[in-house]
Amino acid sequence: MSATSVIGLQWGDEAKGKIVDLLTEEHDIVVRYQGGNNAGHTVQFGGQTYKLSLLPAGILRPGVTSVVTGGVVINPRAFLEELDGITSRNGDVDQDLLISNRAHVVFPWHMAEEAVLEKGRGGDAIGTTMRGIGTCYRDKAGRTHAVRMGDLVKPESLRERVTTVVQHKNRVLAALDPESVPLDAEAIFQEYSEYAARLAPFVTDTTSHLHKALAAGKRVLFEGAQGSLLDLDHGTFPFVTSSNSSGAGIHSGSGVPEREIGRMIGVVKAYTTRVGGGPFPTELDDEIGQHIRDEGNEYGTVTGRPRRCGWFDAVATGYGARLSGVDCLAVMLLDVLSKLEQIDVCEAYEIDGERTTDFPAQIEELGRAQPVLRTLPGWQVDITGVRRLEDLPPEARAYIDVVSELVGAPVDIVSVGPDREQTILVDRD
Ligand code: GDP
Ligand code: IMO
Ligand code: MG
Repeated sequence: MSATSVIGLQWGDEAKGKIVDLLTEEHDIVVRYQGGNNAGHTVQFGGQTYKLSLLPAGILRPGVTSVVTGGVVINPRAFLEELDGITSRNGDVDQDLLISNRAHVVFPWHMAEEAVLEKGRGGDAIGTTMRGIGTCYRDKAGRTHAVRMGDLVKPESLRERVTTVVQHKNRVLAALDPESVPLDAEAIFQEYSEYAARLAPFVTDTTSHLHKALAAGKRVLFEGAQGSLLDLDHGTFPFVTSSNSSGAGIHSGSGVPEREIGRMIGVVKAYTTRVGGGPFPTELDDEIGQHIRDEGNEYGTVTGRPRRCGWFDAVATGYGARLSGVDCLAVMLLDVLSKLEQIDVCEAYEIDGERTTDFPAQIEELGRAQPVLRTLPGWQVDITGVRRLEDLPPEARAYIDVVSELVGAPVDIVSVGPDREQTILVDRD
């Protein structure tokens, strides 16, 4: 078994990008297998900060192959902008880049439909990233109006395909919103033909490539996007994303069988954040929440929206960990809590007077959950320069131990700052 997987166990933005970047050193291939440019992964090293949305974090490490598999939905314009941005900073990186011919393509009609649908939900809006992700996955499941990367790079049939889909979409959009401006099929075809010409050299059967690579003993790293609690099937539906963002999505999104995964790393923030709508039992709508937002710079990488902040929720995170079957945890952004006198951790919920550590399937029930909090002493010293577990203050070590015990997995990595260097690797032997 030569594959490792990095999965967020909360509602996204757990700092997966930092962990993937750290691990690229010991892997040959980095794979994005679900989501799209709703993801925003930050990587920081050597005084440089990179924000990645569609490209796997392996793109920053020379010699590592980056693979975007069929489970990802690709906005070609966003993809090329990202690639150009990195090329302008780091020189040519595209010789080791592969895109699946099975991946579905995001078109302007996906954004247009999403805007109308979100508006129509009024106060119940999901608070999506408006990147056309859910509407593209919907067309994939619907099968009739979907375009895959393999279709995009066929100029002889693309014009007819785009024309047919645009005719349908214009009827739908006009029905949903009589004021909507009709889409211009020819303009979209021209624009996407240019993207297709540039992307064609990368498009291939990545499933077959990965099967051969694993058979040859290559070390593969799977980079999850979003987090387990945003999983379409297992998260806080309908306030979720439209893909399997827990460990459940690795196999379906990449075509690599689960038994190839030797190490599943669950990434957690030392507290909790959430962007967009949906229940959040430990949310802090007060000055402590604002303090965490300020200290952690909790503003969305993709949309710039302020992230909702709250205490670490071991019920929700434990559920995320069990869903993804994690072997160990990476506890991130511990330094953000350093100034607090006391830190709370949610160890159970009380729902309608009953105490439980089960994570409810229905958001109405989750919305009624009162967090049962355990209060721990803070450490109130700067830990951003600490590189060994034994050099952390005893209160910080005790905090990590409680997180580990309540979630039910050992902690292998602790992060005390955004830089690649600001990392503690825990020696468990
Ligand atoms: P991802 O989507 O899971 O990759 O996470 P994001 O990149 O959206 O958000 C994580 C943010 O935390 C980024 O701005 C990182 O640079 C930053 N970060 C990562 N690890 C640490 C840490 O240990 N401490 C602090 N203060 N920031 C961190
Ligand atoms: P990374 O990979 C945090 C959230 C959105 C919204 C919901 C649905 O950076 O952790 P979508 O546009 O996917 O249909 O929006 O999911 N969301 C994320 N939240 N981190 C992400 O990605 C997210 N990707 C989507 O805010 O609530
Ligand atoms: Mg993010």
